[in-house]
Amino acid sequence: MRVEPLSESVALLTLRNVSNTYITQAYGIFGRKHKKSVVDQVDLTLAPGELFGLVGESGCGKTSQGRCILGLIDYEGDIIIDGLRQDKRRRRELARKVQVVFQDPAGSLNPAKYIGWILEEPLRIHRIGTKAERIQKVDQVLQLVGLDPSYKTRKVHELSGGQKQRVCIGCALMLDPKLIIADEAVSSLDVSVGAQILNLFQDLHQRLGLALVFISHNLNVVYYLCDRIAVMYSGQIVELGTAEDIYSAPAHPYTRALLDAIPELSWESADKPHVELVLPVQLPLEALPGCRFSGRCPWKGAACGHSPQKLVALPGNPLHLVRCHRLGNA
Ligand SMILES: Nc1ncnc2c1ncn2[C@@H]1O[C@H](COP(=O)(O)OP(=O)(O)O)[C@@H](O)[C@H]1O
Ligand SMILES: [Mg+2]
Repeated sequence: MRVEPLSESVALLTLRNVSNTYITQAYGIFGRKHKKSVVDQVDLTLAPGELFGLVGESGCGKTSQGRCILGLIDYEGDIIIDGLRQDKRRRRELARKVQVVFQDPAGSLNPAKYIGWILEEPLRIHRIGTKAERIQKVDQVLQLVGLDPSYKTRKVHELSGGQKQRVCIGCALMLDPKLIIADEAVSSLDVSVGAQILNLFQDLHQRLGLALVFISHNLNVVYYLCDRIAVMYSGQIVELGTAEDIYSAPAHPYTRALLDAIPELSWESADKPHVELVLPVQLPLEALPGCRFSGRCPWKGAACGHSPQKLVALPGNPLHLVRCHRLGNA
């Protein structure tokens, strides 16, 4: 186990003060543009081969953070991947270090092409190997993702949802990346197929030493797969710790509310303390100068709405960081 922050030379991924703002245009000819802060000053380090989970409700900025890491959107701050600074001019080089798997496998694959052609494409784009070598690599990757070589001559419509997602994971593996960003990669699959895909990620992690940023709205899924978890709320990380810390000893009221939202089918669950999400509607970020969760927090104190809170370690556990006034580390 390690203590944050990991030095840049050792870390596979470093995010330093990363923020992202979208400019949105109001509807109509007199509509004004306005800025919307979606990821706010995120600091994070990932060790090589680490299984890292990013969890939070829909709209909290998980995908945007993933897209910053991939260099798909503009951001402020620094992102360093395996010693290379994220930069649009280095996208080709960085593609060999970090790849992505999205939620909708059907939408990610070209329906007109054979699976073999689709899998070979990254190698063609990067001009890697001869035709024979590329086909050999396609076979290898198909085997890694649990499909036999005959799938090369199938088309996307001939595959089930789980098989399509396996092909997407295969595409991500073709360039031998060190890190995969999996954005809601099992959310569109049914529970049993989703579980198989989670096991596949686990297997790839063990066999290839692959690191993973696993993005999900489902804390259960993230807990099952990941070693460390960051809980995100309104563009900020509000709690960061080992999966065990987050699941068994959640400190932030939002994490507790997330855990409480997981249905539990046991008699004991009836006695569990309950944290209620008071306000279902999310306030605009600009409206909350202090803690962004304070509008919904059942434990809100006088200071919470005014001064921002830093992400700080809990006493006695340097790996467990929380952003909450109540925990007394202003
Ligand atoms: N291209 C965009 N332009 C403007 N706003 C966006 C864009 N993409 C996402 N958003 C907004 O940013 C917020 C965070 O979105 P996202 O990162 O997709 O969240 P999540 O993945 O956690 O559901 C949402 O309020 C969403 O509406
Ligand atoms: Mg998303």
